[in-house]
Amino acid sequence: MSHFAHARVDLDAISDNARLLRERAGGTPFMGVVKADGYGHGVIPAARALMAGGATWLGTALIREALELRRAGITVPVLAWIIPPGEPVAEAIEADIDLGVSDRATLDAVVAEARRLGRTARVQLKADTGLNRGGASPADWSALVEAAARAEDEGRVRVSGVWSHFACSDEPGHPSIALQLSQFHEALEVADKAGLSPEVRHIANSAALLTLPEARFDLVRGGIASYGLCPIPGLTVPGLRPAMTLYSRIALTKRVPAGSGVSYGHRYVTDKETTLALVPLGYADGVPRAASNKGPVLLGGRSRVIAGTVCMDQFVLDVGDDEVRAGDHAVLFGDPAEHPDTPTAEDWARILDTIPYEIVTRVGPRVPREYVGDLA
Ligand SMILES: Cc1ncc(COP(=O)(O)O)c(C=O)c1O
Repeated sequence: MSHFAHARVDLDAISDNARLLRERAGGTPFMGVVKADGYGHGVIPAARALMAGGATWLGTALIREALELRRAGITVPVLAWIIPPGEPVAEAIEADIDLGVSDRATLDAVVAEARRLGRTARVQLKADTGLNRGGASPADWSALVEAAARAEDEGRVRVSGVWSHFACSDEPGHPSIALQLSQFHEALEVADKAGLSPEVRHIANSAALLTLPEARFDLVRGGIASYGLCPIPGLTVPGLRPAMTLYSRIALTKRVPAGSGVSYGHRYVTDKETTLALVPLGYADGVPRAASNKGPVLLGGRSRVIAGTVCMDQFVLDVGDDEVRAGDHAVLFGDPAEHPDTPTAEDWARILDTIPYEIVTRVGPRVPREYVGDLA
């Protein structure tokens, strides 16, 4: 590719990962999570690759993300789970999108739109089992379930799912996991007693589907692991392949003497005469400014560390006396199977005290995605 930089996305890796995760989850039906532009990989190509790997559901945060899937002609069941007031609920109902509902106000808004349209809305009730984020708290759960059951009797909604989300599934053995599972069982019992018969009950994200067979229920939701990144630091999942490689061309090289301060603030100073190589990616492209003097980059067959401050559009590498030229490719992160010194998104996350999700979802719109693999 001739771009100044690009994110290469291997669609076969995404479909192979989905297939592998489904097997790891004992064949439990699989929801591919494609929110945030498919974790930065591109929502439509990622969705198609996940479906090729056996995903029979897709999950998004926002209705508008789910509608984008429908506009691309994707007809599998889709769940959208963050519905602030004013979101296009009517369009979602007409597009047969399952709506994640956590409270009475949202349920009432969905019922009102369904009545106005003369349609039955598909609703998945979300129980807060201990994350204390979305979902109905245990104190409000019965009332939400009963209101949904009445709306179902009226034909205004079909309660297609009951679901929840873990707080600490990336810390296997964390005491909250068992508590959340038992709270989820209670929530399901309440729904059952109210006469609801959801098609799918689900709570497992990538970390849970990898480590908690008892959390599988009828569906598992695979996000980060589908893209080949492990949510549990230190855990290796044999066969999982990182789908995204972030490349940049070197824009410029120059020799500078010892004692040269590099980039804003001169937070890096050369200790000898050396070659500096300019990489035309910056924090506007998703390279965190916190990676100044820290981020690892493969260039000329060696892993190097960013020299000085990451700017909006560029940063610098000190390559010593190595032969590096304008036009050479640098790799910020990718798959070590291609070169053993390739940094991974997990490496970036560890070095920057964050999670690999943040590294891949941050890659900005200025960076073209290049799709490869048989599915491209
Ligand atoms: C509600 C919900 N389910 C599933 C996922 C997928 O999680 P993961 O990427 O850890 O598999 C997310 C992502 O954060 C989420 O918010």
